[in-house]
Amino acid sequence: MEINILGICGSPIKGGNTEAFLREGLKAAEGTGGVKTKLITLAGKDIKDCRHCNWCIRKQEEGKLCAQQDDMAEIYPELLQVDALLLATPVYIGRLSGYMACFTDRLRVFAWGNVYQGKLGSKVGGALAVSWGRNYGIETALLSILSALFMMGLIPVGPPHGYGSPFGACGLASEHGTGKFNREDKLGVLRDEYGVKGAQALGKRVAEITKLIKAGEATLSHLS
Ligand SMILES: Cc1cc2nc3c(=O)[nH]c(=O)nc-3n(C[C@H](O)[C@H](O)[C@H](O)COP(=O)(O)O)c2cc1C
Repeated sequence: MEINILGICGSPIKGGNTEAFLREGLKAAEGTGGVKTKLITLAGKDIKDCRHCNWCIRKQEEGKLCAQQDDMAEIYPELLQVDALLLATPVYIGRLSGYMACFTDRLRVFAWGNVYQGKLGSKVGGALAVSWGRNYGIETALLSILSALFMMGLIPVGPPHGYGSPFGACGLASEHGTGKFNREDKLGVLRDEYGVKGAQALGKRVAEITKLIKAGEATLSHLS
């Protein structure tokens, strides 16, 4: 059995801390075997805010999920194909980034769309966040992602006990989360050993739970 996990990075910085952190989670998921991963960064993409036109609720069609024409058109089919999602955000003012907020708002097509409602329902989801400071809004950022996962009907999974926050993987981009800036080190999060272990543990757990769900679905389909 092979499973597919898609990582979405909500940082405007390509190759920045959030992306590096997410890659750690995806690599660890692959390490469990039988897992294919892909990372999509929202950096540089045209992802418009939801304009609440309600087109998706009344007029959604097979193959056309949203009335707006932008880069979400390429991402929607990928979301439908994969078995699990890892959503990663930099912490902005104690919550998810604007990029990630536009992205998660546009997932409304799966919550209320007249064709695609519930289509993310059996997929597993995990949250990752990277902040500059320790205890400076990271858990509220994770919760803002988790609420999106719950609202779209995904099955949210956190890291196992002993890896920091139960809500998701937490990375600190400044030295020990003190706010100290190291000009030589643009990827400070990779020096946050405990945080990286959390991202890896989350990636692994998301992969394992996804495999269990897929195996359960396969067994049930044989029985019915
Ligand atoms: C608009 C804005 C708001 C931010 N708010 C917070 C915050 O509330 N708490 C925090 O610890 N860091 C905050 N930061 C810092 C980023 O979360 C941090 O630098 C993160 O590592 C950036 O990841 P990146 O390299 O992927 O962009 C903020 C940065 C920006 C640009």
